[in-house]
Amino acid sequence: MFIRNAWYVGAWDHEVGRVMRRRILLGEPVAFFRREDGVPVALEDRCCHRQAPLSLGKLVGNTVECPYHGLQFDATGACVKVPSQDRVPASARVKSYPVVERNHWIWIWMGDPAKADPALIEDFHWMDDPHWGFGGSSLHVDANYLLLVENLLDTTHLPFLHPESLGTGAFARSEFEVTREGDRIKVTRWLMDQPPAPFHQRMGDFADGVNVDRWQIAQFAPPSFVKLDVGSAIAGTGARQGDRSKGMNMFNLNAITPETEKTAHYFWAQAYNFKLDQRWISDLVRQQVNAAFLQDMTMLTAQQQNMDLGPSPVVNLGQDKAWVAMRQIVARLVAEEQQTAPRSVAAA
Ligand code: FES
Ligand SMILES: [Fe+2]
Repeated sequence: MFIRNAWYVGAWDHEVGRVMRRRILLGEPVAFFRREDGVPVALEDRCCHRQAPLSLGKLVGNTVECPYHGLQFDATGACVKVPSQDRVPASARVKSYPVVERNHWIWIWMGDPAKADPALIEDFHWMDDPHWGFGGSSLHVDANYLLLVENLLDTTHLPFLHPESLGTGAFARSEFEVTREGDRIKVTRWLMDQPPAPFHQRMGDFADGVNVDRWQIAQFAPPSFVKLDVGSAIAGTGARQGDRSKGMNMFNLNAITPETEKTAHYFWAQAYNFKLDQRWISDLVRQQVNAAFLQDMTMLTAQQQNMDLGPSPVVNLGQDKAWVAMRQIVARLVAEEQQTAPRSVAAA
């Protein structure tokens, strides 16, 4: 039950090369590789003969040779060679997915290829903007992908799950505003005149005892992107009115791609606009954010294990407003797609 007509992140750019990489996306096996000219390709990683994973085979120029009986497929997925006979059956092909390389990610369209317009790719320009540096990585999620989207939209968990890095006590009770623009959701939080979170203090070089005005503005876009504009500036210097020059700003960029109903791939980056000449910042940012996200992964896995035991009554709170709306949007988009999709796609 996924939104299929959407661009998802399938891999980091450096993960795709002249050795095939298998990844299950939206329940389908995909083999990524680059053609000899460097252009990325994504083929169904399931041979149309006996379902062997093509990614266990080898690249012969721009074609893929199946490891089992040697059928060869070109980058469009068409079978071009059957070693055991001269005739190549017309139906011998594997799916080829539209792919675009942008902002250090390899984007893939798992739905109707006719609808794959690159203009629809979500904006993650920070990773290519000379005014920003970034550190990023990926994690495997042992839980349904929407549990992670929930996690990113309700950051009242910060003081409990990440007390040593991101949370301060004031966070749980901070005021927030949820706004909608079409299917996009924005959650704006300002914590005024509070001690900085440990990670922000370190990144912003705030002197001991200095209070900050801290912002955290999360934006959700379907199917499962969350971008967080976060930062802290010395209290009372006008950050909330638009002058962020007395502090530091980071963008936490998250692209989550379902693997199965109960697992996902999590691609994330943390962009920052300070100390750009200092390479160690990128490593530190990556390491700090990764450590916090591993705490989230542990919680998500535990939630999923409990949920797998069967339905149980739950209570929704005021803080859940944004992700409740997010789930309604995703459910509606899935339903709309299934109403209009050909039966074979709907069944998938
Ligand atoms: S399974 Fe691929 S050639 Fe037989
Ligand atoms: Fe978290």
